[in-house]
Amino acid sequence: MPATESGSCPFFSNHTDSKTAAMAARFVIPEVDTTHICHFDQLRAVLRNAVMRQNGAPDAPNKREDPMMASIFFLHGDAHKRRRAAISGFFTPKAIATRHLPGIARTTDSLLAAFRAKGEALLDEISFHLTAQVVAEIIGLTETPLLPLMHRIESANGAPAVWRGGLGKLLAPFKSWFYAMAFYLRDVRPAVAARRHVRRDDVISKLLDEGRSGLEIMVECMTFGLAGQGTTREFIVVAAWHMFDNAALREQFLAADEPGQTAILMEILRLEPQASMIYRTATDTTDDPAIGVIAQGERLSLNVRAANLDESVVGPDPARIDPARATRLKNNGAWMSFGDGAHFCPGWQLALAETRMLLDKLFRIPGVRLVRAPDMQWTPPMLQSYQLVNAVIACDKD
Ligand code: HEM
Repeated sequence: MPATESGSCPFFSNHTDSKTAAMAARFVIPEVDTTHICHFDQLRAVLRNAVMRQNGAPDAPNKREDPMMASIFFLHGDAHKRRRAAISGFFTPKAIATRHLPGIARTTDSLLAAFRAKGEALLDEISFHLTAQVVAEIIGLTETPLLPLMHRIESANGAPAVWRGGLGKLLAPFKSWFYAMAFYLRDVRPAVAARRHVRRDDVISKLLDEGRSGLEIMVECMTFGLAGQGTTREFIVVAAWHMFDNAALREQFLAADEPGQTAILMEILRLEPQASMIYRTATDTTDDPAIGVIAQGERLSLNVRAANLDESVVGPDPARIDPARATRLKNNGAWMSFGDGAHFCPGWQLALAETRMLLDKLFRIPGVRLVRAPDMQWTPPMLQSYQLVNAVIACDKD
């Protein structure tokens, strides 16, 4: 098949507007014994092919064959469709506008008021807090303090520990289980108990209506915590970083209407995808016009970052930010950043809405500036993502 067998990909360029490309060039490597796919059309063909199964995060605590215990991420076929249908109501444009945005505005205002009062803040802390609040409310994890709860989810998913070598790597699975249990006992159980008493409009109440147990509910909470919070948190910081460094882009963002602002954000995300690599395994032999024959059992590493730079699809100067690109090419601008096919990200519009609201309000604060660019870290397990920490921002004090 015409895919790249080694770590090399034809689309990486040294002349790029991307902040994370240099680090990605070091760290984004296909998994061992997988076929590496970089071309946009080939990625899309794989993600839309019904014989493909999710193959990421081999050691994830939420990976189960039992459809009642599996996270939505690992489900397929009818079980996956049912789970998607159960959560879709939380992510419609109407739900975002009427249900989520008022809360996002309140949280944003209170976080930015604290920033203005102090004159300085860590942007990554602001984005962590906002995205955690949004996800916790959708899931219904509202009985315990927010930040320790999110820390437990992240540690249970193993992200910070797994890429350390030696003992850290050996102990990582035990650490993950320890945090998973702590998360279950301290956060999930009280939330479930409260909703057994009085149902609310959140994911936990929906899962209880389906007769799911506390442990099953924990699995889904962890998926949403990681998929919805970790991704958006980093995206907010990287998008802000671009606009702090590029005054013309920032001005364009502030002058734009909602679709114009969203187009700028998606164009930044194209160069800075949060999931650099996603994975699939073929459960049957398949012959696709875009990709050729894929044998049963073949494992594939799908290079999202490379696909987003595929000039044959995204047009000339693919490594440059061009907010008019998607409109010119009659594309919605999501490219491959939110995946494709059955597992396409359900939260994509929500992520864009919360990022847009926070950055629009942030950039209007008098004297706002980035006084320390973020440190960049890489978290190879699963999605191969960047993490941006210690981004110090300042403004005129109130
Ligand atoms: C900038 C932010 C985000 C990015 C870049 C992103 C990216 C992605 C990608 C690439 C996938 C597909 C993975 C695959 O096919 O293997 C995905 C799936 C998913 N995302 Fe997002 N996501 C973001 C925000 C969110 C938010 C805010 C939520 C929810 C609150 C969310 C919930 C999910 C869920 C539940 C899945 C699994 C869907 C399924 O398997 O059917 N994501 N996301």
